[in-house]
Amino acid sequence: MGKDVIVACDFASAAQTLQFLDKFKGRKPFVKIGMELYYAEGPEIVRQIKARGHKIFLDLKLHDIPNTVKKAMAVLSRLDVDIVNLHAAGTTAMMEAALQGLTRPDGTRPLLIAVTQLTSTDQESMERDLLIREPIADVVMHYARTAKAAGLDGVVCSPLEAAKVHDACGVDFLTVTPGVRFADGDVGDQKRVMTPAQAKAVGSDYIVVGRPITAASDPVGAYERCIEEFVG
Ligand code: C5P
Repeated sequence: MGKDVIVACDFASAAQTLQFLDKFKGRKPFVKIGMELYYAEGPEIVRQIKARGHKIFLDLKLHDIPNTVKKAMAVLSRLDVDIVNLHAAGTTAMMEAALQGLTRPDGTRPLLIAVTQLTSTDQESMERDLLIREPIADVVMHYARTAKAAGLDGVVCSPLEAAKVHDACGVDFLTVTPGVRFADGDVGDQKRVMTPAQAKAVGSDYIVVGRPITAASDPVGAYERCIEEFVG
C-alpha cells in the first residue's frame, strides 16, 4: 500500500458519519473508525462504510489475554477491514495470537499495527503508574522492535518518531502518524505536530487527520489539501 491520508471519523453516530462522508461525493477517503463510533453503532457501521467503497482502519486498540485477542481479531478480520491495531504492551504472545486470529482461511489478513506508549502517557506517569523507568523514547522504540519481531506490519507513532522507527525496523515497517496540522491551522489539544508535507518528508506512510478535516468549513477541500501535500 502506498502513502495515504486516513480521515479520523471521530463522530458519535452513524448518521453524522455518513452525512460527513456524503460530502465527498465520488471520492472515497481511507477512514478511521475509533472506539466511540464503534461502541455506539457496532459492526454495522463498519459494514456500511466498507460497502460504500472506503478502506477502513479500525482503531480499537485491543489488549487482553492472547486467546481472547486471537478470537476478537478473527471477528474483525471477517469485517473485511484494512488495518486494525492493538497495544504492544500486551506482549509478544498476544501480538502473535492476534496475527493468527486475523489471518483468513485464504491466507490474507488486514494489516496489524501496534500502539506503543500512548501520547497521553509521559515519562512521569509511566514511571509512577507503570513502574517503567527507562526513557520514554527508548520504551517506544523497544515496543516498535518487539512488534516488528512478532510479525506486525507497523506502529502508530508521532511523525516525529517515524524516521527513527524506520531506521530501527526497516522502511517497510509502517508508520501511521496522527498529530498532523496545516501550517496555518489550529493545533488544538495536539502538542507535537507536523504538517502533511513535513510528515511526508520524514517518511510517514499514513497520516491520520481528524479535526483539520472534520471540523473544516470545507472538509473536502481540506482533505484534498492533505492529499496534495502528503501524497503529491
Ligand atoms: O483531530 P485530530 O487530527 O487530532 O485526530 C487525531 C486522531 O488520531 C484521533 O482519532 C486521535 O484519537 C488519534 N490519535 C492521536 N494520537 C495518538 C494516537 C491516536 O491523536 N497518539
